[in-house]
Amino acid sequence: MIIEDNIETFNSLLKRRGFIWGPSPEIYGGLAGFYSYGPAGMALKNNILTLFRRELRAFGFGEVECPTIMPEIVWKASGHLERFIDPVLKCEKCDTLVRADKFLQESFPDLMIDGMSYEKMQDLIHNNELKCQKCDTPFGKIEEYNLMLKTEVGAGNIAYLRPETATTTYLLFNRLDQDTRKQYPVKVFQYGKAYRNEISPRQQVLRMRAFDQFELQLFIGKDQEMDFEDYEAIKKVKMPLLDWRLQEQHVDTPKMISSEEALNKKILKKPAYAYCLHLAFYLTKILGYPDEIIRFRQHSPNERAHYADDAWDLEIKTTQFGWVEICGVHDRTDYDLKRHGEFSNQNFEISMGNDPKKKEIPQILEIAFGPDRIIYTLLECAFTVEEAGKENRIVLKLIPELAPNTLAIFPLKKNNAQLTALAKNIYKSMIEARIISFYDEKGAIGKLYRRQDELGTPFCITVDHQSLEDNTVTLRDRDSMQQIRLNVSELSKHVKTKII
Ligand code: GLY
Repeated sequence: MIIEDNIETFNSLLKRRGFIWGPSPEIYGGLAGFYSYGPAGMALKNNILTLFRRELRAFGFGEVECPTIMPEIVWKASGHLERFIDPVLKCEKCDTLVRADKFLQESFPDLMIDGMSYEKMQDLIHNNELKCQKCDTPFGKIEEYNLMLKTEVGAGNIAYLRPETATTTYLLFNRLDQDTRKQYPVKVFQYGKAYRNEISPRQQVLRMRAFDQFELQLFIGKDQEMDFEDYEAIKKVKMPLLDWRLQEQHVDTPKMISSEEALNKKILKKPAYAYCLHLAFYLTKILGYPDEIIRFRQHSPNERAHYADDAWDLEIKTTQFGWVEICGVHDRTDYDLKRHGEFSNQNFEISMGNDPKKKEIPQILEIAFGPDRIIYTLLECAFTVEEAGKENRIVLKLIPELAPNTLAIFPLKKNNAQLTALAKNIYKSMIEARIISFYDEKGAIGKLYRRQDELGTPFCITVDHQSLEDNTVTLRDRDSMQQIRLNVSELSKHVKTKII
């Protein structure tokens, strides 16, 4: 976990070790809201995606991929053209544009602005004579600002870059219905880019204009939502829930409560939705977040997106940016399929139960992860600075499966041809065993270890003089710094048991 004193060290590590660079393009001064990942950042991202994909296959989800640009009609139908908006204040004198809700939250830290109606926000601005911070001109009326990025396809066909992957998945509904042979719930996910024209993006990769989404969808019957088979196995598992009524009383600590209890107390409405919260919680925990920095925060009715009947954000507590949403779980009801059925003149009513005459439009439950936010929050919580002699030791305590390198291999001395030859051979054999490995000889052994510690490499191997005699090496554990001696023939088996 970073502490206030270490924020600078942490931010510089992200750049220095090739995790996150930007705003991009850096050589032209950067455009706000756009970032690039370096090799370490991409390795971490790919490891997260591999883990998620493996887990979701086990949970019965299929994967789809859709175009990132869709014609205007799609966004009319989805409601994004009309309602995917932020309230903004535009200074009449200097044209500065600020997000009204964020500006008010900064001006009144003790008030709960999230979910406040535009009228109330307007009153706050007027009654307190709030002014533009750049030129001191009083702000006027709140305006609406659509967050979608518009483009033209071919000659004059208006289209938009998708603001979420979810809508594009819903457009496949009749294909999925056929493909899955009507086995409901249909479980499917999509990973890919989404775009939002954020007003004044700050907070690094937490609020980008081009960002990744990893969104799971369950197409499900109304009865099935209330009588959901998989719920039985998870109903006693406790989750950290902070419902919106608690937030109204200025509580910000969640309560550990089971799905069963939450349903009994009417904090949750549907067993299938409770299951989705559970799945989001499970996928978050396997990434290695400690329990005490995870909470589910429910949206108030005013805060919810236009398509949601219930919404809980899975949030991670960070040092630099407070609680950060990494996942939103939405009960989208039959809103999306109803609208797309109407706008495309298709009949999305199907029979889902035993009675073929009883037809309904499926409901949708959604679990929407933001991989960029996962990357940032994981890095923050893995970052540690330990006292170690004169220099502090920076260690990224990522779980071994997520670390950019699993293994690093060093010769004890770089000028000894026999040591470097053996170390390179071991490196080759580890690569052949498909263990992600890194060979380094540039520096003293202490420096080589430190370089890998700050990248999060869980294991380092050193080839020394004894290695030349008995084919053993030392294997050093990143967190404990303990070293054991192992025969080279045992290496790949030993490492593989630690990463799966
Ligand atoms: N699909 C939900 C979201 O973009 O937040």
